[in-house]
Amino acid sequence: MSTNAKTTMKASNTDTPLIQRAVSFDFSGTPLHWIPDDPYSSHFISVIHTLLPAGEFFFCRLYNKALPHIHDARLKNDVRGFIKQEAMHARAHSSGIGGFLDAHNMETASYIKKVEWIFDKPLHDKPFGYQLPKRMEKHWLVLRLGLIAAIEHFTCVLGKYALENPAWDKSQADAVVLDILRWHGAEEIEHRSVAFDVYNHVGGHYLSRFPQIAFVVPILLGLWVMGASHLMQQDPALSNKQPRLRGLFFWREWRRLARKGHLPSLTFLLTEASRYVMPGYDPATEASTEQAQGYLSTSPAARRAAAAA
Ligand SMILES: [Fe+2]
Ligand SMILES: [Fe+2]
Repeated sequence: MSTNAKTTMKASNTDTPLIQRAVSFDFSGTPLHWIPDDPYSSHFISVIHTLLPAGEFFFCRLYNKALPHIHDARLKNDVRGFIKQEAMHARAHSSGIGGFLDAHNMETASYIKKVEWIFDKPLHDKPFGYQLPKRMEKHWLVLRLGLIAAIEHFTCVLGKYALENPAWDKSQADAVVLDILRWHGAEEIEHRSVAFDVYNHVGGHYLSRFPQIAFVVPILLGLWVMGASHLMQQDPALSNKQPRLRGLFFWREWRRLARKGHLPSLTFLLTEASRYVMPGYDPATEASTEQAQGYLSTSPAARRAAAAA
């Protein structure tokens, strides 16, 4: 059994039913630079459409495998809702690739292949094709559920950032992109406790959170900046800037636009990530379900989905 303090509490700490909102987004009027006059931040955030789907489909597969190990009816229900929400996130962001990035001649396939490799090879049930001994299978599942709990801390942080960032509105960013980011962010906040609850329920250990976050942060941030740079390098508007990761422009511009409020800064992301290893960490106190549902009640896509349902 876990030594985590949460073991003394209830298995499910999700305070709302997790429903799937069947949203759809029409990107046909979305410009490539969806934050006007800011190609850098536009690409930095647009890469999310290409980074997230592979991971979210992986979450769905893994949590379906975790279901038989969950012996609490409420938590089981949370997990089913979590799977449905993540599947919809992945589909919605994939439509961002087809409906928006492809239309602007951005090549994304080579980058997506690299992201998929992580889930199809090292994080697969058979890592690099190697069939694990039966007695190791549960450990391997728990370890990966721990990695997802760490990622979900990050997605909650980013969801809150998207909901609370007025700079994008002030700069008249594209309404459809803002809606997909905030709808997704709001649902990340709604289900912020599920992955952590599951990790504790299946035997996750507090100390394991240190290597997990140490693994997740560089991989996630590495993939993010790699993908952002990949999009920027294809954009004629940035061709004289050489937005490569080994160049100064990429990092200076990130700092400048973070100060402007168009992007989360690297310091912000690292500081927020480090909270995951605090002994008193509790996803429930990381964000507000009311705030998230407040946005969902006004989100054009979520309202359309509710009306159709
Ligand atoms: Fe998601
Ligand atoms: Fe999530």
